[in-house]
This record gives sequence, C-alpha cells and structure tokens, in this order.
Amino acid sequence: MQNPNPHAVLLASPGMGHFIPALELGKHLATHHGFDVTIFVVAADASITESPLFKPPQTPNLLNLVLLPPVDVSALVNSTASVVTRLVIMMREALPLLQAAISSMKSRPTALIVDMFGTEALAIAEEFDMLKYVFITSTAWFLAVTVHFPYIDEEAEHKHRVMKRPLDVPGCRSIRHEDTLDLFFDQTDRNLFSGFARIGMEISNADGILVNTWQDLEPSTLRALENEKFLGRVVKASVYPVGPLVRPVGQSSKSEVMDWLDMQPMESVIYVSFGSGGTLSAKQTTELAWGLELSQRFVWVVRPPVDGDASANFFNVTNSHDGTPSYLPSGFFTRIRNKGMVVLMWASQTEILAHKSIGGFLSHCGWNSTLESMVNGVPMVVWPLYAEQQMNAAMLAEELKVAVRPKIQPNAGVIEREEIAGMVRRVMELKGNEMRDKVKELQRSAHQALMQGGSSYNSLERVSKDCELNVK
Ligand code: UDX
Repeated sequence: MQNPNPHAVLLASPGMGHFIPALELGKHLATHHGFDVTIFVVAADASITESPLFKPPQTPNLLNLVLLPPVDVSALVNSTASVVTRLVIMMREALPLLQAAISSMKSRPTALIVDMFGTEALAIAEEFDMLKYVFITSTAWFLAVTVHFPYIDEEAEHKHRVMKRPLDVPGCRSIRHEDTLDLFFDQTDRNLFSGFARIGMEISNADGILVNTWQDLEPSTLRALENEKFLGRVVKASVYPVGPLVRPVGQSSKSEVMDWLDMQPMESVIYVSFGSGGTLSAKQTTELAWGLELSQRFVWVVRPPVDGDASANFFNVTNSHDGTPSYLPSGFFTRIRNKGMVVLMWASQTEILAHKSIGGFLSHCGWNSTLESMVNGVPMVVWPLYAEQQMNAAMLAEELKVAVRPKIQPNAGVIEREEIAGMVRRVMELKGNEMRDKVKELQRSAHQALMQGGSSYNSLERVSKDCELNVK
C-alpha cells in the first residue's frame, strides 16, 4: 500500500556541527509535520558514529538513520586543499551510494534536503522527480553572503580582499573586512573560490532553502533574501527560517561536572568551550588558564594546544603532582579546586548550558553553540576561530548586543589574561546587565518560533504542504 506521508531524504555532511542540526530537523519533520524521514550521514568523522547521538531515535517508524561509509579523499585532493574542498569531495564521492539507495526505495521519496556541502546531490532529486531543498546550518546572513558570492567574486578579490573594504551584500548589514569568511583569505586552495561560488548558485536554484534561524532574529536579512530589489533577484528558492533547531536536553545524566554545577549559586559559572574541534595555541591556552583563574567560577572544556609539544597531547603527561596536564600552568588543578572544573576534550554541552548555575558562555561562536546559548538565555564572550564564526561574533556583540568581544581577533594575536578576566566579569554581572536581559528576550522569541503557530513551525508546515502536493 502506498504510504500517505511525504518522505524526506536528508543528506548530512560530516562533522558534529552539521550532523546535529540535520538530526534535529529530521526529528521535527517526523514528530510534528507528518513526514517519514531518512537521514543519510557521510561518516568521515568517527565522532559521529561513536556518539550516543547516533542511536536509533525515539520515533523509529518515522526516522531512519543510514550511515554512508567513510571516504578517503587524500588521493583525490592535493595536500593544501581546504576543509571546504575536502568536504565537498567527500560528499561527491558518496553520491552513487545515495542514488542507489533512493532508487531501491519502494516508493519514490518526496523531497531531498541536502547540507550546503552536498548541493551536487540535488541532481539526484531531479532524476527522481523529488523536490529540492538545501539546509543551511548557520544564519540567514551567512546564506546571503553565500548566494551573493558568485556575483561579487571578482570584486571581492580586488576591493574586499586586497583593499580591505567592508563587504556589502544588498539589503544586509555590511561585513567588516576582518569579519568575513576565512575562505576569502585562503590563498592555498585554487578550487575554493570557484567551489564556493558554485555552491552559492546551486543553493539559489533549489525549490527551498531551510535556515537554522528564526524570523524575529534576522528580520531584515530574511526580507532582503525575498525582496527582488536586493537578493530576491538571485534567489529563486523560497527561504524558510526553521530554527532554532538544537538538541533538547536529555535526562540529566550523573557526572562529576553536573554534580559540581548543582552545588554552585544561580548563574555564577561561565562555561568555556570551542565547539567540536576548536583548539588554541599553546600560549593562548596558558593565558586563558590564567585569565579564568583570575575571574569567575568556570567549567572549561580543554583541548591540547595545536602547536604544543607533541608529548603534551597525552593527558597523562603532567607537570605537577595534582594531575594538571603539561600544557596548563603548573599546579592549575590545585589552585582552581574550589572555583573551576576542567573537562578534557568533550562535555555534555546542552545539559551544561541548561543548568541553572550557568550564567555565561565563552564560545568560539559555532552556530549550534550560539543557538544553544540563546535558547538557554545565556550571554556570551565571543571568541571566533574559523569559518563564519567572525560573522556570528559580530552579530552577537554589535547587532543583538548579547555578547562581549575581545579587542583583537583571537587569531591575530594572544588575548591576555587581564582582558579575559575583564570580559568574563562584564558578561557575568547579574544586576543591570543589558546583555542578560536581551538574551532572555531572545530565549522567549526562540521558544515562540518553534511552538505550534510560531514562525518556524509555520515554515515547516509550508514545506510539509508543498511536499504533500508532490506525493505520487
Ligand atoms: C562549525 C561552524 O563553525 C558552525 O558555525 C557551523 O554552523 C557548523 O560547523 P562547530 O565547530 O562544530 O561548527 O561548532 P558548533 O556549530 O557550535 O557545533 C558544535 C556542537 O557540538 C554543538 O551542538 C555542541 O553542543 C556540541 N559539543 C561541542 C558538545 O556537545 N560538547 C563539546 O564538548 C563540544
């Protein structure tokens, strides 16, 4: 018998920052909007397959997860290829498997929703007469830059890159030279510029673009994307703000860090983390350690520095009797005993951010971390490292005014301990802290967007209606 539900096939790209929101999108479509969902994940990253997230979800009849085997791209790209180029090639290599899987399905799926690095898969949607959607796991502002990019490519290279002018995207907030995507400055990968421009064009020609933002967070950029005068002339697709899609907090698990947080006063702890893969230099790691020691109660997810002594990469190599790893100041664990917790490599972030004792987040501004902070009403110290994180930081500090930002770009030099302590103090103030009030407003508006009848809920309903019309 023909299944009456629309069936969405999602193609997620590797990396937790892309997989997590794709999984949440799939769950929302299946749980609230009447879809059957199959998510294909390209498994370049063992963290995905080993993660507890990669367990059968609670809606097994409606949501399937399929792991596409890892692709070794080393023979297909040269050694200087950027992460973006590698991701695109990984996704390309997975296409025959995706195509075979779709063609063997009993009935034709209704829609294909691909991550931005998988836009080449949209040709498969055409082959099987499916609706084509792209899911942007970042902001509408980032989408605006991406779709505008093919038109400013030349100009960007000359005026923006060389002359260090701000980047003006029609109808949107201008982007300072130092806040633009790092791919604008990548001189080593010849394919990066053309590859990113191709992605911009493919996104514009989809049937729809789903963005992990919400209407009230980015009203003017979303308007510019629809308005003929601005970006609407290049974006043929309808744009659907569907966020904030973030992992819900699970049942509170017992752990040392959660037990410690339970004992701390309300909103007294700053959480410090640099996302799924962010690392600092050895000098910056030391300075951050001193900065935190000088400031507030904290939970810090620490990774060994990228440029450190290789032997320091082993956690059991310590330089002091108290077990402090050798890349942190000697005796650090003893001195912070009553005010800080260090978690090595990975923490249960959504649970931590939802804890009542958390009052601030020092973050690399990956978009998932940013959304997780907002939905918990937590103001931020922004410390962007790569990709579109500088744009996210600018938006948080200057437009939304829910964050403080260091005086220098974190990648341009070392941020010193006094400045770190000062930023943490500012963001943690409990009384008269406008950042805290503003982020609590965002928390409320985020919640409303996803409720039945809210703007993001309605966006997904519109996608659902379009897909129902395409069920054959
Ligand atoms: C990158 C980009 O920078 C981001 O903006 C883009 O949208 C996706 O790719 P990433 O570095 O992975 O992101 O950071 P982020 O987007 O914040 O995602 C990290 C995810 O891993 C978050 O959901 C966070 O909760 C989770 N995480 C991270 C943990 O659960 N524990 C950790 O210790 C670190």
